[in-house]
Amino acid sequence: MERLHDPDLRGFASDNYAGTHPEVLAALAAANGGHLTAYGGDPYSDRLQALVRHHFGPGAEAFPVFNGTGANVVALQSLVPRWAGVVCAATAHIHTDENGAPERVGGLKLLPVPTPDGRLTPELLDEEAWGYGNVHRAQPLAVSVTQSTELGTTYRPDALAALCHHAHRLGLAVHLDGARLANAAAFLGTSLGALTTDLGVDVVSFGGTKNGLVLGEAIVVCNPDAVHGLSYLRKTSMQLASKSRFLSAQLVALLEDDLWRRSAQAANAMAARLRAGLDRLPGVTCTQPTEANTVLAVLPPGVADAVRERYAFYDWDRCGTVRLMCAFDTTDADVDGLLAAIRTAIGAGTGADVGAGIGAGTGADVPGGVPAGRGGTMPGDGALDNTGGRP
Ligand SMILES: Cc1ncc(COP(=O)(O)O)c(C=O)c1O
Repeated sequence: MERLHDPDLRGFASDNYAGTHPEVLAALAAANGGHLTAYGGDPYSDRLQALVRHHFGPGAEAFPVFNGTGANVVALQSLVPRWAGVVCAATAHIHTDENGAPERVGGLKLLPVPTPDGRLTPELLDEEAWGYGNVHRAQPLAVSVTQSTELGTTYRPDALAALCHHAHRLGLAVHLDGARLANAAAFLGTSLGALTTDLGVDVVSFGGTKNGLVLGEAIVVCNPDAVHGLSYLRKTSMQLASKSRFLSAQLVALLEDDLWRRSAQAANAMAARLRAGLDRLPGVTCTQPTEANTVLAVLPPGVADAVRERYAFYDWDRCGTVRLMCAFDTTDADVDGLLAAIRTAIGAGTGADVGAGIGAGTGADVPGGVPAGRGGTMPGDGALDNTGGRP
């Protein structure tokens, strides 16, 4: 097959714009050949279970799935009945970027709570955890937290433990969207289990795709008593892969030899480098602490559009904030190139006459503030239209 893209092209749109880690490709090759039992009855799936028990605790069990949305929807369905409500941060991916899948597919009402930094607290949970016994209200029976958050912040272990404790005391199960759990654990210097099972999290959507897999995530059950019918729900939700060995082999590669941590550390380090550089640029304001691989920044008027001619990234909101994501393969040179491009655009006074126009025409008219059109367009991609969605 002819190569159709420039393999050296990198941007800051999302960690899932990146390719596949070579160790994961090697694992896929190793798992190839011969005939093996489908649907999880293969040695790679067995190895995955052993690794998940090692990382998340002896009672943990993994259910590989195709994607993060599927992991979230199946995990939540396994925790609560159809009349339940799921409390989440208003910025949670399940609320903002899954096209209503938890509600449409899972039949679960989301109960979003505004937060200052993407993190729920016991007090914020209380804002929606009420109305028990009222037949007119979706019963708040689960809370979903994202670690690291969509804003690039992380829950500290004691804060997450307090939230889990409070949720359980109220009778809510705890789901953790861990599309970037590896980045949080790398930032905090903890194991995966120390950030989930040990704190009282019941079920995790453990991310793989954003950390170097071709595709694949794992629903990890930390508390088997909290879930019901997960294997059936995975099938009815069309998330059971017949050639499961290839999902499992990738996850094995990620969990063996701590590739998950090495890749997350690399992405986090590049985000920290980017953050340090942005903090030195005039007129640039970073809106959140950088505690994983995400940097949110407000750039001077017009700068974002000028820089996007060379580097892809998404608008984050209607207030001119952009989201800059680093991946496992982001390099010092990539970060320095982006910083130089921003510096040049600021120096050129780009947008001095654009007024309040940051983000103008980039989704300000789109409900929910999702970027329209240009956010994800890679230089040279021509007709590529990444309208909407912030993966
Ligand atoms: C925090 C978070 N959760 C879940 C997902 C869903 O992943 P997928 O696009 O594979 O469905 C994403 C993807 O962008 C995400 O950022």
